[in-house]
Amino acid sequence: MSCCPAEPVKSDIRQDVKDYYGKRLKTSDDLQTSACTTPATRLKKHVRDAMKLIHDDVVIKYYGCGLVVPECLEGMSILDLGSGSGRDCYALAKLVGENGFVTGVDMTDEQLDTANEYVEYHRELFGFKESNVKFVKGYIEDLKSAGIRDSTIDIIISNCVINLCKDKRAVLKEAFRVLKNGGELYFSDIYSDRVLSDEIKSHKVLWGECISGALHWKELFSLAKEIGFELPRIVSAKVVEVTKPELKEVVGDAKFVSAEYRLFKLPPGVKREKSEIMYNGDVTGYEDELQFDHFVKFTKDKPIVVDGDLTAVINCSRFQGEFEIKKAKCCSVAAKAEDIDPFLVALSSGDSGSSSASCCPESKCC
Ligand SMILES: C[S@@+](CC[C@H](N)C(=O)[O-])C[C@H]1O[C@@H](n2cnc3c(N)ncnc32)[C@H](O)[C@@H]1O
Repeated sequence: MSCCPAEPVKSDIRQDVKDYYGKRLKTSDDLQTSACTTPATRLKKHVRDAMKLIHDDVVIKYYGCGLVVPECLEGMSILDLGSGSGRDCYALAKLVGENGFVTGVDMTDEQLDTANEYVEYHRELFGFKESNVKFVKGYIEDLKSAGIRDSTIDIIISNCVINLCKDKRAVLKEAFRVLKNGGELYFSDIYSDRVLSDEIKSHKVLWGECISGALHWKELFSLAKEIGFELPRIVSAKVVEVTKPELKEVVGDAKFVSAEYRLFKLPPGVKREKSEIMYNGDVTGYEDELQFDHFVKFTKDKPIVVDGDLTAVINCSRFQGEFEIKKAKCCSVAAKAEDIDPFLVALSSGDSGSSSASCCPESKCC
């Protein structure tokens, strides 16, 4: 399959996106649908508690499409691609604690201004001696120019941003470069069920709607493989519908889903042997069980057999100390990572598509 031709990013798309997030949207109240809000029921208590601390001025400018708070965060170095007003950065700053650090990168001055205004406010509220958050102006296709060095980041998050970038390959390559071995990209974005037509791709309103730039979900798998990531593991998915008749006409039969994936970067030549692994229940907020992805759930003190790929992911990542890992005695493994259709995951999660757009209000776009 041809994947993401490396055509140069046209500056007008970037400018449109900057104008949209910097000038058109004032608060997330401008959003017309609930597609970009994360259902409160999905939030674990420790995450909810951290979110509650975030300043209202930051929260009202939240435009993400999912929850990008992975597990096992204490002391981690985190990078947020397209950090916006900084809601996820501040929540993660609280969760990584004083020994961790969060860097947000964004290209839009107005978003950065809001984020920067509350650095000291959150430092004081969290009771930290020094702030553990910083926001940097830059393009996520070129993190080097934003000062992010090779192999320095434990976890990259991104919330509804990569769809807005024309050159997704560049974004994922940069993410791979800056991650440490064992690090992961844990992100939420919009995907399509097909390669989109030129008509959809060149539609300004649909671009602002985070629809035109949606990657065909299969392309995510081929891109991830090409760059060197492990097979993407889907965490959750929710169908997104385009409801406005004039936009629906352009979109035709194309379907969209917002999904969270985790992509690990492992050291080259890592050993991949099936194993029996047992979760110790020590990860904050996941004392009884840890849902690693849509298919794999670890229950405290209950050993399960996993394949060589998942064994390698656990063994080489920050999760290593949270599991007892033994050679597997038997053959059957818990669900194997595969390139699973996120639309099926959305359906199996009981979501038949109640959301009526992606992350931008249809009427406000362009
Ligand atoms: C949908 S908003 C999401 C913001 C934030 N992640 C949140 O959840 O509120 C998209 C953000 O990505 C930023 N952005 C889009 N393309 C970018 C790029 N190529 N480089 C850096 N930032 C970008 C925009 O400026 C905007 O702040």
